[in-house]
Amino acid sequence: MNITDRLIALDPTLERHNEGFWNEPYDPQKGGFSSFNDAGVECEVGEFLYSLIRLLKPNRVLETGTHIGVGAAYMGMALKDNNFGTLDTIEFLLELQEQAIKRIQKLELMNRVNIRFGDVKNFEPINFGLGNKDIYQLIFLDTEPQTRFREMVRFSGIWDKIPIIQTIRKIHIGLGVQYRKK
Ligand SMILES: C[S@@+](CC[C@H](N)C(=O)[O-])C[C@H]1O[C@@H](n2cnc3c(N)ncnc32)[C@H](O)[C@@H]1O
Repeated sequence: MNITDRLIALDPTLERHNEGFWNEPYDPQKGGFSSFNDAGVECEVGEFLYSLIRLLKPNRVLETGTHIGVGAAYMGMALKDNNFGTLDTIEFLLELQEQAIKRIQKLELMNRVNIRFGDVKNFEPINFGLGNKDIYQLIFLDTEPQTRFREMVRFSGIWDKIPIIQTIRKIHIGLGVQYRKK
């Protein structure tokens, strides 16, 4: 079973739709992108993030913009399947954060996913005193298009040589992986 179907089986509140056809059941014949809602990662992007984490096997992952925890669900499942690693994800709207917490609890990912409340602008990562293991090895910037670039500049100034992925909503071909060179 692929990761999208696994998530749906574990959390039936996740209803897949073809993008833009929010009142219709998912039809794979239609092609194009599909999603659980119009703000979270598309299922195809979620599957990419799941595979990337399975491949890179990062110890720590950071996501900006939790929303209701769909991206966190895909990434958290990958960390669970890796048997190690944690995701820190940040959201500044309490109502959304509460929904995300419920989802992560339902998926039994609480030991893999830390949902932090607050503005990314003020985010300071917890230092566990683990040296290199404290460094985020993957960062997924997914707040708003106008703020993601600023986040990239800020975070790449703190952590060097880290894959930073930015999504550009509604322009899926804008999905890009960027490496900062010294
Ligand atoms: C595109 S959605 C994130 C979708 C989520 N990553 C997912 O895949 O399900 C953007 C989220 O970022 C949050 N957000 C926007 N700016 C923020 C900021 N400066 N600090 C924290 N959260 C922010 C919004 O409230 C919204 O829930």
